[in-house]
Amino acid sequence: MIKVAYIQFAPVLNDLNSTIKNLEPLLENVSNAKLVVLPELSNSGYNFKNKKQAFHTAESIESGTFTNFLIEKCKQYNFHIVSGINEIEDGKLFNSAILVNSGGCIGKYRKIHLFMNEKKYFHHGNELPVFDLGFCKIGILICFDHFFPEAWRILALKGAQIICHPSNLVTNLAFKTLPAHALMNKFNIITANRIGREGDLTFTGKSSIFNPFGEVICQASIDNEEATLFEIEPNTADNKMITPRNDIFKDRKPEIYAKYLNNV
Ligand code: ACM
Repeated sequence: MIKVAYIQFAPVLNDLNSTIKNLEPLLENVSNAKLVVLPELSNSGYNFKNKKQAFHTAESIESGTFTNFLIEKCKQYNFHIVSGINEIEDGKLFNSAILVNSGGCIGKYRKIHLFMNEKKYFHHGNELPVFDLGFCKIGILICFDHFFPEAWRILALKGAQIICHPSNLVTNLAFKTLPAHALMNKFNIITANRIGREGDLTFTGKSSIFNPFGEVICQASIDNEEATLFEIEPNTADNKMITPRNDIFKDRKPEIYAKYLNNV
């Protein structure tokens, strides 16, 4: 069993110092966790006024204040963090999630499926990495990626036992798709959603952990800050049997799917 956690809070748009101040006690509350997941775009906020603000609030992962803050917290508490971040590289913005530990930033995922106004600011990512942390294997997807079952299946086929899912959800649709992804891929999902309002957007909270049976085993409120720790067994995700004669991964027929996927 390992202790995992989500942090549900409201990053402050365009005010990194206040965001960091708000996060400190929340991270302390889950200092016993091995793996902590934070919401999407935790360093910047979400609903940018314009392109200038989107660029102003972005940071490069190598030298960023927010990344360095998270690394310091990993040194202090000896956990791993997956956090959404507004990332800039070579003059381009990405809606990314970084994986950090006491040794630094050890991985990242760039959101592939961009939602609404995100298309005005961000370039989409091209990779679906899986990271072996020693105590579990994780994949990362961000918020609206929840509508694209292909991405979840690929991470499952690559051996991910836990999908970390930083989010800034503005509807409740993910609470229908996510249990289905967990069940159909038989892995765990940690969704860290944000709360609060930015302009015309209200974020929906209810950060959750889903087990490989598609059950919600832990869920936050709609609008409170919460730092919640829960124990899960990552290895249960390695068992894809749903009856004594059905391993849902061995029963797949990729050669049939390929005939159609190559043409659509
Ligand atoms: C979203 O992808 N932030 C809805």
